Amino acid sequence: MKRIAVYPGTFDPVTHGHLDLADRGRRHFDHLVMAILRNEDKEPLFTVQERVELLREAVKGWDNVDVESFDGLLVDYARRIKASVILRGIRALSDFEYEMQMAMMNRRLEPDLEAVFLLPSEEYSFVSSRLVREVAALGGSVEDLVPPNVVTALAKRLGERRS
Ligand code: PNS
Repeated sequence: MKRIAVYPGTFDPVTHGHLDLADRGRRHFDHLVMAILRNEDKEPLFTVQERVELLREAVKGWDNVDVESFDGLLVDYARRIKASVILRGIRALSDFEYEMQMAMMNRRLEPDLEAVFLLPSEEYSFVSSRLVREVAALGGSVEDLVPPNVVTALAKRLGERRS
């Protein structure tokens, strides 16, 4: 049976940290689905469709990785795509509490779905989408932190917002 993992997130925007984690994860599963939550509550910088496109472009060389979006409960989505594992990253101890709460809630909802946590490369252990948005908005360089298509998209979106 094919082992399918789902790597859910907001990915607003995708960073090298996310990609590092996906690259590690995809080596351990037959198929990895990076799944972007369609969340009406948050006010994202990029629309879901834009985030899907940016992420698809960033992973296009990886043939066992797909990018999709989902809404509703993650466990229901995972069941629909026949994933047996939820993949998430832990950058630092500060991530742990949030991740553990989500993992325990997901386990309560779907005991057969296993959470697997990987550590990103230490060079990305401080990188978050929120900080990337903030630094880029204030004119700092994020070229080492996100893929080139995201650098371009950030410049365009932040330029639009300024004008
Ligand atoms: O990148 P993020 O914002 O930390 O990702 C959070 C995400 C998308 C993994 C989480 O919000 C999620 O799984 N939402 C789906 C709704 C859900 O299933 N909630 C209950 C279980 S915690």
